[in-house]
Amino acid sequence: MKDERLLKRLVDKPLNRNETELFVDRGEELSALEKILKYYAFGIFGLCGRTGSGKTTLLNMLTEETQKIVRISIIYRDNSDAILYNLLYSLAEHFLKDDSKEIQKISQNVKEWLFEEVSIVRGFSLGLSMMASADLKSSKARAPRFNVFKAHDYLQKMLDAAKKHYGKVSLLIDELDKEKKEDVIKILDSLKLELQQEDVLTIVTLPQSIYKEYIHDRLRMNGFGNLENIIKDVVFIRDLENHHVKEMLIKRFSESLDWFEDLSILDMLADFSDGNPRDAIWIAQKVVLENISKNQLTVKDAIQSIQKISKELIRTISLTDLQTKALKILRGLTGSREQFLIKLVENSFARTTAYSIFDKFLEIGFIVPKESGFKFSGKLSFVEEL
Ligand SMILES: Nc1ncnc2c1ncn2[C@@H]1O[C@H](COP(=O)(O)OP(=O)(O)O)[C@@H](O)[C@H]1O
Ligand SMILES: [Mg+2]
Repeated sequence: MKDERLLKRLVDKPLNRNETELFVDRGEELSALEKILKYYAFGIFGLCGRTGSGKTTLLNMLTEETQKIVRISIIYRDNSDAILYNLLYSLAEHFLKDDSKEIQKISQNVKEWLFEEVSIVRGFSLGLSMMASADLKSSKARAPRFNVFKAHDYLQKMLDAAKKHYGKVSLLIDELDKEKKEDVIKILDSLKLELQQEDVLTIVTLPQSIYKEYIHDRLRMNGFGNLENIIKDVVFIRDLENHHVKEMLIKRFSESLDWFEDLSILDMLADFSDGNPRDAIWIAQKVVLENISKNQLTVKDAIQSIQKISKELIRTISLTDLQTKALKILRGLTGSREQFLIKLVENSFARTTAYSIFDKFLEIGFIVPKESGFKFSGKLSFVEEL
């Protein structure tokens, strides 16, 4: 009974509107998004952040005030046709039960047309999966040519009907954060005509890597120059502060906080998470599972469990002797890149080696970028001997 209670609220899934009691922080990001929805007439905006930082959760917290919000999940992204169809299908599905008879009717037409189109070539995964909601892999080579013009036409018709009824329509497009930067630009480019029109406002989740690129484009620091033409502005989700992660865990464990010998255990879990909510849930699950038979979790047990998990993490990455040595030296450090490099040089690393180690650690997440510099990952705080 107790065991179930412990794990019950550690499920890793985006929070929705009726789970706000588990929601922490994000006031700034939420208000930035709300302002965009409220004050911009049209345009494509990005919501950017690491996986697990809470993009989907944040989109779920947006409520309809004056404008119509349509949530769209683009599941099939194999090619631009699939994306167009997926978008069209999501919209039709959303508007099928709309108050306006006109919108209902066009949605019905669109859905029927889509099914017809899709059944033309049996075996094409987009079609199959739309009907069966099965997760099948499609082969690009065999993808039939759909009537793309008609699809664009229908998309416009549906948006027109929705705009007529609601004034402004806001589309929240999730799941593009799983794509590569170049692909996202291609996708948005292919939908430019429909998404960049008066009274259609779009927020898309974007992969983390786009953020830097976007800032560079804005400041004209590189020749890429494409992104700012498509994306009007980007809202960036920061890492949570440790105390917010702790608060998040306290909320989740609310019914069983007495299981922890000391709440400082939650600080350790927060440190491990490096400010990423998904990582916090993950490590909490691991530690709970490992100790679930115990009546109480002591600080010592918790440290042991975290140590074990950290070691597993390290084992999956084969480090050179020099990298292992650097790990021990840098543990616990926060500061600028230069401060990390100096620390290594002081410990008789060649400067070029220090550079490459820093870059490597950054790439694999042993060093985490923070607003004011860098931090050595809390995932390795308790690894004593390597
Ligand atoms: N602000 C928050 N407060 C509490 N839990 C959160 C918050 N943001 C995210 N989470 C939790 O963290 C996990 C990852 O969130 P999710 O929205 O799926 O991230 P993303 O879409 O960026 O990958 C989910 O289990 C979610 O419930
Ligand atoms: Mg998500």
